[in-house]
Amino acid sequence: MLPAIRFDVLTLFPNAFTGFLSESVLKGAIVTQKIEVNLHNMRDWADDKHATMDDRPFGGGPGMLLKVDRVVPCVEAIQRQQEPGRLLMFTPQGCRFNQPFAESLSTEKRIVMLCGRYEGFDERITEILKPEEVSIGDYILNGGEVAAMAVIETVMRLIPGVLGDEDSNRFDSFSTGNRILDCAHYTRPREYRGLAVPEVLLSGNHAEIDRWRKENSLQRTQVKRPDLLVTSASVSSLKTETTIFVDSKKQQE
Ligand code: ADE
Repeated sequence: MLPAIRFDVLTLFPNAFTGFLSESVLKGAIVTQKIEVNLHNMRDWADDKHATMDDRPFGGGPGMLLKVDRVVPCVEAIQRQQEPGRLLMFTPQGCRFNQPFAESLSTEKRIVMLCGRYEGFDERITEILKPEEVSIGDYILNGGEVAAMAVIETVMRLIPGVLGDEDSNRFDSFSTGNRILDCAHYTRPREYRGLAVPEVLLSGNHAEIDRWRKENSLQRTQVKRPDLLVTSASVSSLKTETTIFVDSKKQQE
């Protein structure tokens, strides 16, 4: 059976992924061949004795850059192993990774991910390979490995059959069924340190429970992430369809 998605990760630190890939839902998705994750050490493509991958920037300045003559042949060789995949390059300058972006990746057969390190990439790597440059947030990581893990985990959850309950990700925060924050959830005990579970959730009235959840979801979004809502009017009218989720294309405009 072919996996739904083949991920190829190009990194200088493949060992960073071993624990991540061998636990819980991800491990299950690999064992059941829902996904395949191939780790490629870019250093294996260096042909000199010291396997040099980086060099000092022309014009001076701090840090080292990944070398164009190392990275480009490596990406090209990996792309040739099968029908070329959608190529992502992790950089803080990239387009913001979010749920709609993950949804667009979840229908791909193959995703190839290039992880940077040091000060970044020689600019010609981007010019030649024309990757989609992707950032997971406005902060600086040591490299793209954590970003690649975030993408693998988010996309994998969207593959049918990976999560136990088919619906379980549809109502997660930001998901297609709910582009705002998820509502509050409670389990036993019914009361703890004077805090009781909202009565309606114990009522067995599913229409009321549904209404409470929608309202709670909007209220939480209003308080915690008002940026996800177009206007506060949508809160009072409880019309989730009038909310807008800021997607990656709009961010760039
Ligand atoms: N590399 C360094 N910082 C990053 C970030 N925030 N997102 C993606 N790749 C990165």
